[in-house]
Amino acid sequence: MSRPCRIVGEVLESLRGVVRPGVTTKEIEDYADSRIAALGGISAFRGYRGYPAGICVSVNEQVVHGIPSSRRLVEGDLVSVDVGVFKDGFFGDAAISLPVGNIGGEDARLLSVTEEALYLGIAQAVEGNRLYDISNAIQRHVEGNGFSVVRLFVGHGIGRQMHEEPQIPNYGQPGQGPRLKRGMALAIEPMVNAGSHEVRVLSDGWTAVTLDGRKSAHFEHTICVTDDKPEILTKAG
Ligand code: MF3
Ligand code: CO
Repeated sequence: MSRPCRIVGEVLESLRGVVRPGVTTKEIEDYADSRIAALGGISAFRGYRGYPAGICVSVNEQVVHGIPSSRRLVEGDLVSVDVGVFKDGFFGDAAISLPVGNIGGEDARLLSVTEEALYLGIAQAVEGNRLYDISNAIQRHVEGNGFSVVRLFVGHGIGRQMHEEPQIPNYGQPGQGPRLKRGMALAIEPMVNAGSHEVRVLSDGWTAVTLDGRKSAHFEHTICVTDDKPEILTKAG
């Protein structure tokens, strides 16, 4: 799994230098597509249940699954990029959210709380813990900071398929759910809304947006459960 995941990490890292005011979301996709190919991977998303693009780019009130377009980013936007790669029989999946130029203080807090929630969730992914220990760590940090956790979408097991058992909600009771075992690969992905947790899907059949129109952030890593510290697979080398 380290091969597809390493590619995902490298591509996301390189996108940090691409996201800026004036760039279109399609240009971000084109850049990612060429990096994925150069690193020997294949987009896991293109064609998945008919998804029409190589990556997902979700702006502001778009929560996840935004389809790249001719939309130009402007200063103050908050953009989430989600990259999935298939290589040598296995999948990797990760996402980051980035500020476009200078963003407001509340939006910056939304980004940092969501990323912190991801790492607090990952820290729970150790052998012997229960699945919803991950969920609960995420939920507590998000709600403790006055934001809300999206419930309609969840994290997931990952391996020879992009989506495997178990589903990983970003809310739940500690000490509940299946026991975690070493070797499990999990895509942990908090989606956090500034306002209400409610989302709806646009008529394109993909783009999920907040019902109240407020902003949303998304961070994701593919990790491997060990008997000690979880191994984050989707890091840049
Ligand atoms: N990372 C997302 C997920 O785990 C994106 C997949 S949606 C796709 O579900 F259709 F674009 F593939
Ligand atoms: Co995922």
